[in-house]
Amino acid sequence: MNPSRASAVLGLIGNTPIVPLLFEAEGVTIYAKCEFRNPSGSVKDRFAAAVITDAERRGWLRPDSIILECTSGNTGIALSMIGAAKGYRVTILMSEEASHERRRLIRQFGAELILFKSGGRYQTGINLSREMAAKDSRYFLPRQFENPLNATDHEHSTGQEILRQVDGPIDAVVAGYGTGGTLAGVGRAVKQRYPKAKIFAMEPAEAALLCGEMPCCHRIEGVADGFIPELLRSARVDGEIKVTSTEALAMARRLNREFGLLVGTSSGANVAAALKVARDLGPSGKVVTLLCDRAERYFSTALFDADESPSAEKRGPE
Ligand SMILES: Cc1ncc(COP(=O)(O)O)c(C=O)c1O
Repeated sequence: MNPSRASAVLGLIGNTPIVPLLFEAEGVTIYAKCEFRNPSGSVKDRFAAAVITDAERRGWLRPDSIILECTSGNTGIALSMIGAAKGYRVTILMSEEASHERRRLIRQFGAELILFKSGGRYQTGINLSREMAAKDSRYFLPRQFENPLNATDHEHSTGQEILRQVDGPIDAVVAGYGTGGTLAGVGRAVKQRYPKAKIFAMEPAEAALLCGEMPCCHRIEGVADGFIPELLRSARVDGEIKVTSTEALAMARRLNREFGLLVGTSSGANVAAALKVARDLGPSGKVVTLLCDRAERYFSTALFDADESPSAEKRGPE
């Protein structure tokens, strides 16, 4: 294949390492897939690369096409990165509540950002993207929440990588859901090889929709946007593990400070949930989870709040 300008960044996506996280007190090890090692810093690089490459192959993208997506941030950053490398215009619809770091990263890749008032309702942004696309044929919608490619790509890339990297059998996969693509795809791959493996959905305790509860505000950015996405309905989920925002933040800080892994809040939530499953399975259980993104995109969020107390910074002599 001839190298293109985009092949530099495309070549950095995927094949992320898996690290064993030893929790000595609990006597268990969690296997954590380091998705924060993708070039834009999150698991979403995989879908962004897959959907744009697929659309090009199908002839759906023209030089004047505009990639338009409603996202909680990471997909927007990833699409903006691929758009920059491939020379496409990108417009990202994002809730006003999304962190400033995410907004600035999207703009840094040269993409356009439209903020909408969600009032906790993500559907507002999705509807807006559909209205825009209906009026202007230049828009191409990746539709991450319903596009089956989101899950099949995870099945064939992330899932197969995990099967190569972890000596089986795998007992459980634990992950949160935004679109549900990761959980559906990885779950499918792992269940196909190890039919007894259990797939657990991590849910914020404040918005445990799969548990039949009403959504409420939580602080685990990137997951549980207040509705059950289409892709998750196709996932073979065996159970839900609730994690409070406080538990997620505490575990993310533990990963930062005790393991030296600079990951974000949803990674903390995933590991906290995986730890609950691993404790039940005992030391011989093999539990896999994902570290979804980097901590640097949470400077303005609660993850870094603990550092704002006056005692956290000690001044040296003037
Ligand atoms: C930080 C973070 N964690 C987890 C996820 C969940 O991934 P998925 O959309 O595949 O369910 C996302 C999705 O955007 C995310 O941004």
